[in-house]
Amino acid sequence: MRRCVGLALLCLLGLGFLQSRALQVDVKDDANKTCIYASMMMNFTVRYDTNTSGSRNKTFSLPSDVTLDGSSCGNSTVAPLLWLHFGSGHSWSLNFTRNATVYKGSAITFTYNLNDSHVFPDAKTKGTVTTVFKAAFPPPVPLHNIYKCNSVDAVMAEEVIQIFWNVTLQAFVENGTISSNASQCEADTPSTPGPVTTIPTTTIYSPTTAPRPDKPIAGNYSISNGSKVCLLATMGLQLNVSQARSEENQCDIFYIDHFKSWFNETTWVVINIDPSNTNGTGSCDNDTASLRLNSNNTFLSFLFAVKNNHFYLKEVEISLLGFINGSAFNESNGNLSYWETSLGSSYMCHSEQRLQVTEHFLLNTFDLRVQPFHVENGNYSTADECFADFDLSFLIPMAVGIALGFLILLVFVSYLIGRKKSHTGYQSV
Ligand SMILES: *[C@@H]1O[C@H](CO)[C@@H](O)[C@H](O)[C@H]1NC(C)=O
Ligand SMILES: *[C@@H]1O[C@H](CO)[C@@H](O)[C@H](O)[C@H]1NC(C)=O
Ligand SMILES: *[C@@H]1O[C@H](CO)[C@@H](O)[C@H](O)[C@H]1NC(C)=O
Ligand SMILES: *[C@@H]1O[C@H](CO)[C@@H](O)[C@H](O)[C@H]1NC(C)=O
Ligand SMILES: *[C@@H]1O[C@H](CO)[C@@H](O)[C@H](O)[C@H]1NC(C)=O
Ligand SMILES: *[C@@H]1O[C@H](CO)[C@@H](O)[C@H](O)[C@H]1NC(C)=O
Ligand SMILES: *[C@@H]1O[C@H](CO)[C@@H](O)[C@H](O)[C@H]1NC(C)=O
Ligand SMILES: *[C@@H]1O[C@H](CO)[C@@H](O)[C@H](O)[C@H]1NC(C)=O
Ligand SMILES: *[C@@H]1O[C@H](CO)[C@@H](O)[C@H](O)[C@H]1NC(C)=O
Ligand SMILES: *[C@@H]1O[C@H](CO)[C@@H](O)[C@H](O)[C@H]1NC(C)=O
Ligand SMILES: *[C@@H]1O[C@H](CO)[C@@H](O)[C@H](O)[C@H]1NC(C)=O
Ligand SMILES: *[C@@H]1O[C@H](CO)[C@@H](O)[C@H](O)[C@H]1NC(C)=O
Repeated sequence: MRRCVGLALLCLLGLGFLQSRALQVDVKDDANKTCIYASMMMNFTVRYDTNTSGSRNKTFSLPSDVTLDGSSCGNSTVAPLLWLHFGSGHSWSLNFTRNATVYKGSAITFTYNLNDSHVFPDAKTKGTVTTVFKAAFPPPVPLHNIYKCNSVDAVMAEEVIQIFWNVTLQAFVENGTISSNASQCEADTPSTPGPVTTIPTTTIYSPTTAPRPDKPIAGNYSISNGSKVCLLATMGLQLNVSQARSEENQCDIFYIDHFKSWFNETTWVVINIDPSNTNGTGSCDNDTASLRLNSNNTFLSFLFAVKNNHFYLKEVEISLLGFINGSAFNESNGNLSYWETSLGSSYMCHSEQRLQVTEHFLLNTFDLRVQPFHVENGNYSTADECFADFDLSFLIPMAVGIALGFLILLVFVSYLIGRKKSHTGYQSV
């Protein structure tokens, strides 16, 4: 659990709920000079068990009246500490650390008191609960700079989510003068389009990958049974995987209703399969055939099956090694039915196809042609082409033409009927 603390920080821009009064404090040294200055808005959401109605989520704000008991400017051995006490027995503290050029937050300690029945009515257990967030809040700030962040930032633990916004903060203030030199957080800078979720871990696939990499190069793969080619595949492959999955697995993030949509803001990483360093292996049977593609960190396999004289793609399996911090991303789905084609033909689709394999994995294919069964002389048989490949634009003028023709016919027929009616009309008089 601890591992995830501070792992998922989120930043949203331009939120419009900044009306309430911000807390503003400064910690002073013996000479009455400010050493820590802070102004910020903060909300806590705590999940607690009640006597009568299960667990409950309670959200409350940091009030603007706090006491600073225990706060200190620190010295060469003790870290500066900002310690806020509020309500009945709740407290929040943040200590700081620095090196020669930057300072940053070291840990946030949040203590809430379940005895406070005003905030936690009907609490099952009593007493205080302390949660420590070894979070990068604030992130490294150049010394003698004030940190500013209007965007929302959050730290989470199993039972607690804290969000901050409108933060202005400086530690290691020199000469008691708050700096006029501000270091604005990245989330406030509109020129950084970046993803909403920041994952401060070493990933081999950058989460900030350009929105859309180039179209992948199509690779040619063939599998033989003895000396006879039994499976042919030509495909440009692109993986689209979500990173949030691994993150969720690492920590059981406890979602709170209105945070849900933020946390669901997953980062999709798009990876092209490079055929030049991918090798294909596989096997053929009478009613199943498989193709396994292997490159450095990626393993992708396709299983084809036969049903009612047709073949189809039944299973796709993916494994990315070292996806996040060396942990593997493994997903598969054995209940697919894509690319259904009659036996003895090949399936072709030049257009891009986006195949949903699992919730966290989509496979995009380009310039695709496959024939997993009945390959004759190492060549593809006639192709069944996907619908998307047909250029339907020519149908539009045709449809307009037909509609017009039909309209003319309709007018003509009604004219004839009208004529006939009026004719009969005359006779009856
Ligand atoms: C520090 O300054 C405040 C006002 O700025 C003053 O009320 C207080 O007495 C001072 N304390 C000391 C120890 O100088
Ligand atoms: C903070 O909590 C208060 C309720 O205590 C709520 O009205 C407000 O919308 C919350 N702000 C944010 C940004 O969630
Ligand atoms: C800050 O506080 C945490 C929790 O008490 C502690 O583990 C950490 O060592 C402190 N950081 C520094 C720089 O003293
Ligand atoms: C809830 O249960 C605890 C322990 O059984 C008890 O001490 C406490 O008074 C109860 N609280 C309420 C509000 O009934
Ligand atoms: C603090 O004061 C000292 C001496 O008065 C000065 O040399 C130093 O530049 C000052 N630092 C800042 C950040 O103003
Ligand atoms: C503000 O901080 C930056 C980075 O530390 C520094 O380069 C610059 O000189 C500072 N400006 C002022 C006016 O102190
Ligand atoms: C795959 O085969 C086609 C047709 O033979 C060829 O045009 C294409 O260059 C081949 N692709 C690769 C990556 O070798
Ligand atoms: C990846 O999948 C996500 C979610 O379905 C989608 O929004 C995004 O456009 C996809 N990206 C590509 C390049 O297919
Ligand atoms: C508290 O939040 C969690 C996660 O969103 C949710 O599953 C649970 O139902 C919430 N509990 C209450 C009492 O609203
Ligand atoms: C593979 O080769 C063996 C022996 O040559 C043959 O009996 C079998 O039918 C072949 N399988 C396929 C799928 O062609
Ligand atoms: C990733 O690896 C680094 C260095 O080994 C470690 O500090 C960090 O906690 C790891 N992150 C996760 C999410 O496991
Ligand atoms: C992921 O898949 C690879 C290759 O199939 C396998 O070696 C590895 O054990 C799998 N890892 C997990 C966690 O399932």
